[in-house]
Amino acid sequence: MRPLWVGPLTLETVTVPICDLPSALVGTRIAQLSDLHYDGQRLTLPLLQAAIAQVNALQADLVTLTGDFITRSPAPVAELADYLGQLQGRCGVLAVLGNHDNHSPKHRSKVLEELRRVGIQTLWNEVVYPLGPDFPVVGLAELWAKDFLPSVLGQVPPHLPRLVLAHQPDTADTLTPWRVDLQLSGHTHGGQIVVPKLGIVPAWVERWEKGLATVLPFPKLKRRAAQAIRHWDWASGLHPVTCNPITPSWIYVNRGLGTYSPGRWRCPPEVTLLTLVRHP
Ligand SMILES: [Fe+2]
Repeated sequence: MRPLWVGPLTLETVTVPICDLPSALVGTRIAQLSDLHYDGQRLTLPLLQAAIAQVNALQADLVTLTGDFITRSPAPVAELADYLGQLQGRCGVLAVLGNHDNHSPKHRSKVLEELRRVGIQTLWNEVVYPLGPDFPVVGLAELWAKDFLPSVLGQVPPHLPRLVLAHQPDTADTLTPWRVDLQLSGHTHGGQIVVPKLGIVPAWVERWEKGLATVLPFPKLKRRAAQAIRHWDWASGLHPVTCNPITPSWIYVNRGLGTYSPGRWRCPPEVTLLTLVRHP
């Protein structure tokens, strides 16, 4: 991945209004990294080190990592974890796993083991309170995992605002029965290939495949269409999930650091800083 055609590491800053945010948490700063794909090909060491230095320079209250630490083999995660162990957040570092981390039980347990070894609290259908008892953080299992359990949100009293960490943006569709104030995700890599003025190429391919799969009985095409990301409109950045004016629900999608075939074009890797404010 070369900055010339990908773009430099970019710090994206965004302010998110949260309903019922405790006054003590107004101004809370949350850093996010996603989709590292650390496998010796899809993320350079200088980029990884620059992203870690950028996050630490932010002196955030909480650091979040939203999955896809590896691509295929789980072996590189031990080395990656040694680097990620350098991340500093005043109230800790939280992570959830992505689909690539969950290829098999062996993949999942190795990634969990290594991240936890370096002090990263890695969640799988769990609720934690790093910012205090009035603002829970829910870390969900990967959306395609057999034990994905959105009902874990039922453990949180409905009057409390909450942050949800979930690798895939589409997870938001399954969470509509519960209150979600802000979901942090990755997975899309920002669409990877961005054509100025025309947008992201995967959305075109997706529409083409879906159209073709309706007239051609090729199982492979149908399978790809069925597994596709539904919300390419959430490929990156902050979006409203529901337009409820009383308790708005937001999703923020980080473009990630690493990449996947066929690579990136004009889609810069990202460090995110989210600042929470009180919804009027
Ligand atoms: Fe990914």
